[in-house]
Amino acid sequence: MSDSERVLRAGMVGMGMIFDETYRPFFEQARAARLYDRPFGAIDVELAAVATKTGRRAEAYRLAAADRIGHFDSFAGDNAVEDMLARKPAFACVATPDDRHFEASKQILEAGVHLLVEKPSVLSLPELDELQAIAKRRRVLAKVVYHKLLDPDHKKLRTLVADGVLKHVNTGYCSLLEPKSISGGQFSEWIRGRNPGTYVAVHYIKLIDFTFGGRLKSVTATGQRGLVGPADGPTWDSTQLRLVYEYDDGRDAAFDIHTSWVTPDNFPGYVEQEVQFRFDNGVWNGHSRKRGVELTVENRTPHDLKTTINNHYNATVLEPWGERAQRGYGVEVIERFAREVATIEFGGPPEDRDRRLATARSLTYNDLSADRQTVAAVQALEAILARHAAGEPDCVVRVNEERGGLVLYRPGVAEPDVLYSPKVGATF
Ligand SMILES: NC(=O)c1ccc[n+]([C@@H]2O[C@H](COP(=O)([O-])OP(=O)(O)OC[C@H]3O[C@@H](n4cnc5c(N)ncnc54)[C@H](O)[C@@H]3O)[C@@H](O)[C@H]2O)c1
Repeated sequence: MSDSERVLRAGMVGMGMIFDETYRPFFEQARAARLYDRPFGAIDVELAAVATKTGRRAEAYRLAAADRIGHFDSFAGDNAVEDMLARKPAFACVATPDDRHFEASKQILEAGVHLLVEKPSVLSLPELDELQAIAKRRRVLAKVVYHKLLDPDHKKLRTLVADGVLKHVNTGYCSLLEPKSISGGQFSEWIRGRNPGTYVAVHYIKLIDFTFGGRLKSVTATGQRGLVGPADGPTWDSTQLRLVYEYDDGRDAAFDIHTSWVTPDNFPGYVEQEVQFRFDNGVWNGHSRKRGVELTVENRTPHDLKTTINNHYNATVLEPWGERAQRGYGVEVIERFAREVATIEFGGPPEDRDRRLATARSLTYNDLSADRQTVAAVQALEAILARHAAGEPDCVVRVNEERGGLVLYRPGVAEPDVLYSPKVGATF
C-alpha cells in the first residue's frame, strides 16, 4: 500500500467544550507526529470534515488553529452529518449533547464508518440494540468514550480488584459536582428537560460496571429542581442515583452517585470528583481534585485558572524539551480508539480484517456491546426522573425479572411499566 493510501480520514460531529479539550489536541498532535504502532506502521490521521449546528465553532477553530490543522470541510444545518459522510471518513466522532447522539451515530454506522461517540452512548437500550446491529452488519466499530477508565488512579483500582488484593466490593459512593457556568451558560441551549446524572454520573456507572462486573439488579433515583429551571419542571439541578448489583457469590453491593451542575462558579475545582469503595478487606478513597496541586494566582484563581487542577485528565504544558503540548487521559482515550481503527484497516492483510475487527470489538472498556448495563441504568434514571417530574416520585426500576429486562414500579400502583422487554445482560 502506498503512503498516500495510509491515511485515516476522520469526521467530527459537534465542536463544543469536549472537542476543544480532547479531540482538538488529538487531531493536531496526530497531524504533527503521525500515528505509529508496529502492526500498522506510520500513518497519517486527517480531520477531513465536520458537522455542527451553526458552523460558527468550526470557523472559529479553523482561524484559531491556523496551520496546526489541515483543510477540513465544515457543514451545518439539517444535512450536516450526511454531507460530512460524503467526504468518506474512515471514522467519525460524535460529541453533540447527549440526547442527540443516536441519530448521528446511526447515520455514521449506516455509512460503513467506524464510530466513536461521547458518553453516555445513547439514552435507551432499544437505541443501543439498533446501533449494535448496524455496526455488526456494516462490519465497523461502534465505541464510546469513558475517559475516566484511563485515569491512572482508576486503572490502579481495577488492577487491585483484578488481582484479588481488594476483595468483594460492598458499597460505594461517588460525587461529581460541576459549576453553575455549565448549566447556566455552556449548556443553556439544550439543557431543558435534562439532568446532570445522565451527563456525568454515567462516568461512575461505567467505572463501577467495568471495574467490579456483576449484574445490575435495581435502580432508584431522586433529585432537586428550582435553580436551572422551575421547581416543578423537567430540568434538574442535582440528582442522587442508587444502583444495586449482584455478584456470582449471590452477595449484593449498593452504589450511590451524587451529581450537580449548580456548584458555585468560585468553587476551587472545576469538577469535584470524590469516590469511596468499601470491600470485604479494604477501603479505596479517591479525590481527583486533591491529587496534590493547589494553585493561587492573584486575580485569576479560581475563575479563569482553577485552584485545584486535574493535570492527569488534561494539561497544557511546556515539555522539558521545549515543546508546547496538551496531554492527559482525555486525549489518550481518543488516540487509543484511532489506533484500534488503524489496526483494523492497516494492521495486516485484507483477508484478516474480520479477525482484527473481532479483536477490537472484544475490548469491553469502550465497545457498545459492553455498554448495556450502563445504558440500562441511564434509561432507568431518565424514566424515574420523568415520572418524578410528572408528579410521581420514588419509582424503582428492577432489572431482569420475569416481566422484562427493565421494569418500572410506581408507588401504590400494582401494575408495573415494562421499559424494555428483552433481558439486559452485561454484553450484547
Ligand atoms: N468525556 C467527558 O468527560 C465529557 C466531558 C464533557 C462532555 N462530554 C460529552 O460530550 C458531548 C458534548 O458535550 P460538550 O461539553 O462538548 O457540549 P457543548 O454544548 O460545548 O457542544 C456541543 C456541540 O454540539 C453541536 N451540536 C448540537 N446539536 C447538534 C446537532 N444536532 N448536529 C450537529 N452538531 C450539533 C453544537 O454546535 C456544539 O458544537 C456530550 O455528550 C457530553 O456528555 C464528555
